[in-house]
Amino acid sequence: MTSDSDSSTILAHGGPVSDISIFDEDNVRNPHPMWSMLRELGSVVYLSTSDTWIITRYDEVRATLADWQTFSSAAETVYGEEMGALLGKVPLTTDPPLHDRLRGILSQKTAPRALKQLGEQVAAHADELVAEAVEAGSIEAMEALCQRLPVDTVADLVGLPDEGREILLPGGERMLMTFGPHGDRYADGMPTVVEFADYIKSVTSREVLKPDSWGTAILDAVDDGRIQPEDAAPLMSSYLIAGMGTTVHTLGFYLNNLARNPQAWAALKADPSLIGSGFEESIRLDGPAQVLYRGTTREVELGGHVIPDGKRIIVSIGSANRDPRHYSDPDTFDIHRNPIDHLGLGYATHGCVGQGLARLEVRAVMSSLLRRVATLTPAGEPELTHHIPGFSGITRLPITLTSE
Ligand code: HEM
Repeated sequence: MTSDSDSSTILAHGGPVSDISIFDEDNVRNPHPMWSMLRELGSVVYLSTSDTWIITRYDEVRATLADWQTFSSAAETVYGEEMGALLGKVPLTTDPPLHDRLRGILSQKTAPRALKQLGEQVAAHADELVAEAVEAGSIEAMEALCQRLPVDTVADLVGLPDEGREILLPGGERMLMTFGPHGDRYADGMPTVVEFADYIKSVTSREVLKPDSWGTAILDAVDDGRIQPEDAAPLMSSYLIAGMGTTVHTLGFYLNNLARNPQAWAALKADPSLIGSGFEESIRLDGPAQVLYRGTTREVELGGHVIPDGKRIIVSIGSANRDPRHYSDPDTFDIHRNPIDHLGLGYATHGCVGQGLARLEVRAVMSSLLRRVATLTPAGEPELTHHIPGFSGITRLPITLTSE
């Protein structure tokens, strides 16, 4: 962790200040010591090197996410105009009422009723992957188990053709790095981001998209004037970006937590109804989304600070989820905890629209593992990636499975 100087105790704008740079390589690689240090400084800390405020404690994070009028998603969400233009107007980057209109376009398609029909198909796909993995015995679980299901499921729902899908996961992940300041990571990722955006534009047409898909529902909204033609590709791409890497890494972290906690695996084997509790607990502890961005629309008092209008706010849901004021023993994976009030899927207006789908996919993989696998053990250290500011994930997860 980059060390904080004495300036951490000086009060600025009425509250604590730190000169830490949250996007330094060391901090990005393992953000939790930094979250803990900032959380103990205050519920809101002014980051003097970037003129931003970070919200660190559970209560204040939740209150910030609940107040979209003051903490807007339309302002300061993305660093840089170029990326803002590429991402476009999507639910993640707009406020009501436009936000609600955009989110409404796919709300029926993402509702539990629509997902019900998908259950069997996702379960069959998951079972195939698990059967292959058990056969192999020793696997790199990200490639063997975690990546294929979320990418294929979301791509099928959007109605994309089979060919060309290789760009989806790297493109979507690279796109998420635009949610941070520009630097080497941004420059390195740009060619992939452009390739991804070009691919999405090329498939946004009725000739290519499968009928009755999320993609054609978006084109219907263009035809009946609910959105402009130029909004169609960004909207489709926002569901792909938000729906693939997040679930891939949630699956990875969940498997990693089980492989490293044999008691949790044993508890799950004895009582498979704990799958849901384990999902929530894994996201609480290791959520792929660590920070969300907002911008103030007025001067506001929070956590002892007076924050001016028009300032960027970093909302650390990763820190809130390990706040000892809210969760006892917060750094421990406790399969029985069932922390359904965690903030790893967001909260309120922008709360994750795909959480039903993510739960369905993770449940499918875990159910199959519980049926087919007797033991699940680490076969080496996992390689963690925090190459995207605020977004955590796993690139390599070697594990050994023995069959039931
Ligand atoms: C476990 C996996 C997932 C995690 C951890 C996750 C996390 C999140 C978080 C933290 C937000 C809030 C963003 C904010 O407040 O600025 C969000 C919003 C969103 N998520 Fe997810 N997500 C997951 C899966 C999915 C899936 C599968 C989809 C769709 C296929 C999806 C689509 C979206 C969309 C469209 C939004 C924007 C909602 C809005 O702004 O109204 N997510 N997600």
